[in-house]
Amino acid sequence: TGDGGGGGDAAGYPDQSITFVVPFSAGGPTDTVTRLIAEPISEELGVQIVVQNVEGAGGTVGAGEVANAESDGYTVLMHHIGMSTAPALYQDLGFDPLEDFEMIGLVTDVPMTIVARNDFEPETLEDLIDHVSDNADSVTLANAGIGAASHLCGLLFQDAIGVTVQEVPYEGTGPALTDLVGGQVDFMCDQTTNTSGQIAAGEVKAYAVTTPERVASLPDLPTTEEAGLPELEISVWHGLYVPAGTPEEIVTQLSDALKVALADQGVIDQLADLGTAPVPEADATPDAHRARLEEQIESWGQVIADAGVEQS
Ligand code: MLT
Repeated sequence: TGDGGGGGDAAGYPDQSITFVVPFSAGGPTDTVTRLIAEPISEELGVQIVVQNVEGAGGTVGAGEVANAESDGYTVLMHHIGMSTAPALYQDLGFDPLEDFEMIGLVTDVPMTIVARNDFEPETLEDLIDHVSDNADSVTLANAGIGAASHLCGLLFQDAIGVTVQEVPYEGTGPALTDLVGGQVDFMCDQTTNTSGQIAAGEVKAYAVTTPERVASLPDLPTTEEAGLPELEISVWHGLYVPAGTPEEIVTQLSDALKVALADQGVIDQLADLGTAPVPEADATPDAHRARLEEQIESWGQVIADAGVEQS
């Protein structure tokens, strides 16, 4: 199987433009990382990369579309930690992350930041915990839908402090951040690849980063551990996928092109400005990616079950 049809067989691959599906809105963190690596991958493969945003249901709509696409190497999915939480969060997912995809390789692990609208009362993470605990029924928490990284971080935050707040889902944290800057929603947990610019510009209030170490490009932000919430630790791993049955030669060509992109100085510098870095070359491989996904499905499944979250 896996001859795919579509753009010819592996021998002539690639001989037409390749679509990279981003399962969230344009302008958000997943979109940003994808567009960053699309350019050097396009140069390496010698064809155009078309980035297509397919939003909805915390990234599961876009992932499902790629699971059912031709296995010809011309439809690639960029997705993140949400691929590993979806099985625990959705009763009828419509695809199996491990069975319905070939993995191309890991891309980057992105820290998250806890941010709020500028005129939100709490000044520190401790103040935020107190304020949210005392006003759980009126505080609003933005995310990119059930299964999004922002949703998972919000879930961990609420579970850690023992309250449930009103969640406001968006089709991506790009539009969510716009509303946060506009003061329409109170706070959010989102990736540095989206929030760094607004934090530096003083357009949002930032309380902490969710990584064990501070983020070099955001040196003034304490870690959640320093700020009194050690339980909240998460970084958003990203990987590239193609539909199951895609010929191995094509998977290898895409993985090799990914490695070239992650070694590109422009990509390295831009990711550093956004608070993150490419994964080591050894992780930009199908085996490393599959191992990470298997381990993450297992571990987040347990965390989500322990948090008593009902499947949607
Ligand atoms: C997420 O919360 O999963 C992402 O930040 C969504 C996005 O890339 O817009």
